[in-house]
Amino acid sequence: MKSSEVRIKYLEYFQKEPRNHKIIPSSSLVPENDPTTLFTGSGMQPMIQYLLGADHPLGKRIADSQKCFRSQDIDEVGDNRHTTFFEMLGNWSLGDYWKEDQLKWFFEFLTDEKEGLGLDPKKLYFSAFGGDERYRVIENNLPQAMRPDVETVDIWQRLFQEKGINAEIANISNQKPDINKGRIFYYGASKNWWSRSGTPEQMPVGEIGGPDSEVFFDFGEELNFHQNSPWKDEPCHPNCDCGRFLEVGNSVFMQYKKIDEKTFEELPNKNVDFGGGLERLIAATNNEPDVFKTDSFWPIIEKITEQLGVSYDQNPKTTSSLRIIADHIKAATFLIKDGVIPSNKQQGYVLRRLLRRAAIKINQLKENSMGVLPKLVDPVIDIYTDTDYFQTGDWDNIRSVVAGEITKFGITIKHGLKKLDDYIQNKNNPAINGLHAFDLYQSDGFPLELTIEIAQQKNAQISPNILAEFENAQKSHSDLSRKISVGMFKGGLADQTEATTKLHTANHLMQAALRQVLGNHIRQRGSNINGERLRFDFPHPQKLTEEELKKVEDLVNQKIAEDLKVWFDIEEREKAIKMGALTNYGENYPEKSKIYKIGNPESIFSMEFCGGPHVEHTKLIGKFKIIKQESLGSGLRRIYATVEHS
Ligand code: ALA
Repeated sequence: MKSSEVRIKYLEYFQKEPRNHKIIPSSSLVPENDPTTLFTGSGMQPMIQYLLGADHPLGKRIADSQKCFRSQDIDEVGDNRHTTFFEMLGNWSLGDYWKEDQLKWFFEFLTDEKEGLGLDPKKLYFSAFGGDERYRVIENNLPQAMRPDVETVDIWQRLFQEKGINAEIANISNQKPDINKGRIFYYGASKNWWSRSGTPEQMPVGEIGGPDSEVFFDFGEELNFHQNSPWKDEPCHPNCDCGRFLEVGNSVFMQYKKIDEKTFEELPNKNVDFGGGLERLIAATNNEPDVFKTDSFWPIIEKITEQLGVSYDQNPKTTSSLRIIADHIKAATFLIKDGVIPSNKQQGYVLRRLLRRAAIKINQLKENSMGVLPKLVDPVIDIYTDTDYFQTGDWDNIRSVVAGEITKFGITIKHGLKKLDDYIQNKNNPAINGLHAFDLYQSDGFPLELTIEIAQQKNAQISPNILAEFENAQKSHSDLSRKISVGMFKGGLADQTEATTKLHTANHLMQAALRQVLGNHIRQRGSNINGERLRFDFPHPQKLTEEELKKVEDLVNQKIAEDLKVWFDIEEREKAIKMGALTNYGENYPEKSKIYKIGNPESIFSMEFCGGPHVEHTKLIGKFKIIKQESLGSGLRRIYATVEHS
């Protein structure tokens, strides 16, 4: 089965009676108004406000396939299943159906020959939350210990019974789990609890979360994964890292709210948040334990091996490098499509790191071969011809961004590698430290993580404080670049604080003002908001004059002073576009969408497709100020602006 068939099957399955889900398009990989995270890393991120209780324009049952990028997994790429970019198939019950329907439907989707993937139920294993005695749950006014999720286990057992399989429970929390002793596994909160902030312990008071249940596909012991793995002396189980089991889906049951340090209460509106990796579901469907051998990666690998004259299976190191190159070029292609440009900050830095790492890897496979990388954009886009992820015009732009970055790195790569070798060989150097890494970063464009990786490959000593040393060196060099500090790269979720909300509304006002002052060619190409400032990218051929900047700033402040109303209506997509509602570049919208408007019904100043949130009237924003403008090249400009909170 091909990836496009699995995607279509899943969406159709959830769209049909009696499931009746509405399908929404994928959001951008770059979340707009979320200062706590750089990338969309799961299907639920764009859904957060609805999970917290806002009404979704399309109702209580939603399904989609969401583009995801997890930079925190970059070091794990190289095995049979980890990737930084993937598509997450998702379905949500927003206070509607519950565990029984969710598990039944997902099980049917996995196993049904006609409507689903036709997987053999004997190859499926399950996990459920094993409880946590340190916490209390208030149910029917009575506090009790947080118990194992027996409800979920009961449902799974019944579903298996219907297939003539006796699904036994393999363990209760403390015993070592063992695959030979059952099919259903209880794990603790680190594996089977989900909330925006992590385990119950990590959740702030007021946060919602709940137990989850994962499904694993078993590729069989004949693969000898376990025997060759670092875990070979432990019994194998679904969460063992040997690679025999592949997690193909996770049903999160958001049923609790934390009310104090140790206590949770049941939510009146319980949500289901399901996510399953498309690439992994294809792997399971084809009984192919290597996701890189499925049609979602193989055309890229084929192109590399053909261009380089190497073969995929020639040795484990080559296999791993080919997987890394294929993953990174695919992720880079999607990031560039969603407006990311290589740079030394935030999303741009991650993109730079992916491309430069791919360049080093491909050069290791064959000297001077990094010029092949831009050619790999074609097979990536080809894989997605059945989707609306790319438009015809994207190819050239993406290829030229990749080529530009490779050319830049090409000038310094040899010099940098030689310098790193010299540092390593130098007898007076006990270890590669942050000063070395910073020098390589600064003069040769080596991302810190790449220097560490190459040094590790060469078995060099690495200073245990290399991160701190690097940051210090960088800090004394320039306070500005501190933004690449490690914390930013961890996942996180929407921070809908007052400050970001004000900036978000200011962002809409500024787009409308820019259009009024400079013309209607101004369209948001990218935007990013944190608690301190907004950043807005747009096409414009030349630098804005001081006078133009002042006009934009004054117009925004005038609209703030007029204290205009800010509200949203739910409109048909086509109708809204006709009325002039602005869309974000490259973003697709559901047939019915939220349109945020600023002004009054007779005279609307700003109208944009947007999920919100926003302030209710413009005076709440405070005083608006443009900080600076920059050129991004290729006819794109960037403005930073802020508001002074009153
Ligand atoms: N939000 C859940 C996950 O990412 C489905 O695993």
